[in-house]
Amino acid sequence: MNVIVFSTHSYEKKYFEDINKFFHHNIKFLELQLTAETASLAKGYSCVCAFVNDKINKQTIEALSEFGVKLIALRSVGFNHVDLKEAKKHNLTVVRVPEYSPYAVAEHSIALLLSLNRKIHKAYNRVHEFNFSLDGLTGFDLNKKTVGIIGTGRIGMAMAKIMNGFGCQVLAYDKYPNNTNENITYVSLNDLYQYSDIISLHIPLSKDSFHLLNKESFSKMKRNVIIINSSRGGLIDSRALIQALKRGVIKGAALDVYEEEESYFFSDFSEKGIDDDILARLISFPNVLITAHQAFLTHEALTGIVNTTLQNILDFENDIKLINQVQINEN
Ligand code: NAI
Repeated sequence: MNVIVFSTHSYEKKYFEDINKFFHHNIKFLELQLTAETASLAKGYSCVCAFVNDKINKQTIEALSEFGVKLIALRSVGFNHVDLKEAKKHNLTVVRVPEYSPYAVAEHSIALLLSLNRKIHKAYNRVHEFNFSLDGLTGFDLNKKTVGIIGTGRIGMAMAKIMNGFGCQVLAYDKYPNNTNENITYVSLNDLYQYSDIISLHIPLSKDSFHLLNKESFSKMKRNVIIINSSRGGLIDSRALIQALKRGVIKGAALDVYEEEESYFFSDFSEKGIDDDILARLISFPNVLITAHQAFLTHEALTGIVNTTLQNILDFENDIKLINQVQINEN
């Protein structure tokens, strides 16, 4: 099939080229983001392959449809950035990668938590300057702490198992609790807020979950809680987070996502700087650790993402039942 890949990053191109030797799609790679303005570049391609920060709104979909695109192949789990109603209206099929190494995301969340708690980012910089002082680097034991996991799907469960391994008590909240692991106790959201020393988000972004963590929820949390978000930025009201950090209500935040990230993440702004004062403020806190949507970035996850994406496209081309089609009511 003729496929145009938007927002191509150098780290993934090699995986596409290697794995496509088994699929034989005709692929063009673009570094450009998919937007209503760039959609015309898809003319002549039946499939556009898009990533998390591509803007697949009404205008983009109208344009893609006008230029003859039939399939949007998302190389992500999340599909909150796609106007599914509009896609359906224009008879555009949307597929995604519902599952790939959940360990990649769970382990990155742990890496953030450990770095933030044990101040590894600060220690690294100090030692580089031959500053071997330990002042201000005190952390706490994870052993016997209570971790609240919101969302016990694939990633949340991988996270829960790792936290159990650290000797933590795991509380969980899920709209549809469905696991029977005896080391996890399901509680109400309010109880999770009240008793957790660490809260980690592992749910999709939807109308339901938008700004789940807000002024009110922060006020219900145990003092000195650490927040981890490797799911989607929109789950947290960033302004409320800044207020909570300023008031010292929460001990710190480890974030791999940010609600307005599509303007910045995956690109180099080291020369220009950024205009987003909220992001700049978050970065400025000594107790906030941010990575730029990197949790998925392991060899195993990239292999899984590219394999499933190319298979999804092949199945569409061969008119085989699409197991990874995004349904309009999935949110
Ligand atoms: P999953 O579909 O296996 O699990 C999601 C869980 O959340 C389900 O158990 C579901 O019942 C629950 N849920 C959904 N809406 C909820 C709500 N409003 N309140 C409470 N529970 C709710 O998904 P998976 O694979 O565990 O991924 C979770 C999220 O992680 C994805 O939606 C995506 O946004 C994010 N993600 C981030 C990546 C990164 O690189 N930072 C990479 C991959 C996924």
